[in-house]
Amino acid sequence: MIAPDYFRDQQSLKSSNLRLEPLGPQHFDGSWATLNDAESRRLAGIRIERTEQEHRDWLTSLADAHDRADWAILTADDGTFVGEIVLSEFEPHNEAMNLRITLSGAMFGRGYGSEATKAVVDYGLQVVGLHRISLRVVDFNTRAQRVYSKVGFHPEGLLRDAWFWDGEWSDVVVMAIVAGH
Ligand SMILES: CC(C)(COP(=O)(O)OP(=O)(O)OC[C@H]1O[C@@H](n2cnc3c(N)ncnc32)[C@H](O)[C@@H]1OP(=O)(O)O)[C@@H](O)C(=O)NCCC(=O)NCCS
Repeated sequence: MIAPDYFRDQQSLKSSNLRLEPLGPQHFDGSWATLNDAESRRLAGIRIERTEQEHRDWLTSLADAHDRADWAILTADDGTFVGEIVLSEFEPHNEAMNLRITLSGAMFGRGYGSEATKAVVDYGLQVVGLHRISLRVVDFNTRAQRVYSKVGFHPEGLLRDAWFWDGEWSDVVVMAIVAGH
């Protein structure tokens, strides 16, 4: 079992082109823009409606959330905000978590999503000691599925008509990466 408050001292992560630092109110501008990006909302199924103050309060509250790890993805060279990635839905006994990533629209297709996902998966499996990292992705989001496959996630099943957006139902793919498999 992993300690339920494992993320009390959440680490920053580094990869070749990126720095991932604990998400907080200092990232408000980029985070707010990403939250309200229409394409990101559609692809990631984001339905959150917040005022600016509610979003600032939520970013501030993350420092006290020790059962999840939210990171701001920043470029390593000049700290430009690229997006957000989170490990949440912590199951300490099962050593399992869920992963979600959302980049801001202008940052799609530059390799950042793959690099950030790999950095978080490596950290989750090798440092935290997670046994399983899973995620859900809508079936038409083939770019995200490509990224997850590259990093080592395998499709495990299809949730039929589990996604309703703009008057249409879509299937949702469950993918996971399991230590040692
Ligand atoms: C999904 C997301 C994180 C991917 O990050 P990214 O930086 O854009 O992706 P990358 O550039 O690292 O890699 C994209 C890969 O998909 C491929 N690709 C691009 N468009 C594609 C498409 N429509 N279908 C399939 N593959 C596609 C690229 O060729 C690349 O693969 P390659 O490295 O083998 O050439 C990012 O696009 C994003 O945040 N999208 C909006 C929110 C979202 O979808 N979140 C995931 C919710 S589950």
